[in-house]
Amino acid sequence: MNIQVTPPSSDTPAIGGTHIRSFVHRRSHITLRQQQALEQLAPRWSLPYKPALLNPEAVFGRAAPTILEIGFGMGETTAKIALARPEDNFLGVEVFNAGVGSMLQKIEDNGLQNIRIIQHDAVEVLRDMIAPDSLAGVHIYFPDPWPKKRHHKRRLIQAPFIALLASRMKPGAYLHCATDWEHYSHQMLEVLTAEPQLENTCEGFAPRPDYRPQTKFETRGLRLGHGVWDLIFRRSQA
Ligand SMILES: C[S@@+](CC[C@H](N)C(=O)[O-])C[C@H]1O[C@@H](n2cnc3c(N)ncnc32)[C@H](O)[C@@H]1O
Repeated sequence: MNIQVTPPSSDTPAIGGTHIRSFVHRRSHITLRQQQALEQLAPRWSLPYKPALLNPEAVFGRAAPTILEIGFGMGETTAKIALARPEDNFLGVEVFNAGVGSMLQKIEDNGLQNIRIIQHDAVEVLRDMIAPDSLAGVHIYFPDPWPKKRHHKRRLIQAPFIALLASRMKPGAYLHCATDWEHYSHQMLEVLTAEPQLENTCEGFAPRPDYRPQTKFETRGLRLGHGVWDLIFRRSQA
């Protein structure tokens, strides 16, 4: 795949090279099918992390709105949404090997043309590869809740990260987050509301929009008696 890149702009990061990661690398089970998908399909659908701006038109082979999904897990939701919205391009970022293998297999099984994957820390991808004012939408579904107080610093939704993320969104673009952890939902609402580049599309939490199917983590959360909270903000036009 021909990936055209340009150097990162000088308008960069509030987040430096030593930020606290929102994930820990762990050895996790990977099936043979996922491993084979990683080996055989990654060259076709995955893009390497590089500290240089992506050119989405070159990468997707067409000009279309680009939706970034952070932490797609096994990719069930991503595949369903990408199938239902063929007019949009989806850039999925995930660090977890089995998840990337599973997503690659879903791309192939469903004949999806509108998904590309980057297996890397989303914070660095945003900071180094995504141009300012470029994304049409962002999905962050059920990010790791890090429930223990001493781990809250690992939560992805923090003010510096949201400032960076908002700067990569076009004016009018949407940011859709969902969680099944009540404490995290309030942190999300507080952080997103405090970000001057964003406006809430609802009073507080949003109803789940039809395009977001119920995820595996959500189903599990509901079974455990948790609620689910969606938040949909827009980048201000000004
Ligand atoms: C709790 S899972 C949710 C997965 C999926 N969105 C769902 O709803 O089923 C969170 C995912 O985010 C990924 N993740 C966490 N921090 C990340 C980061 N900084 N960059 C990319 N992926 C990340 C984890 O590897 C994990 O797969």
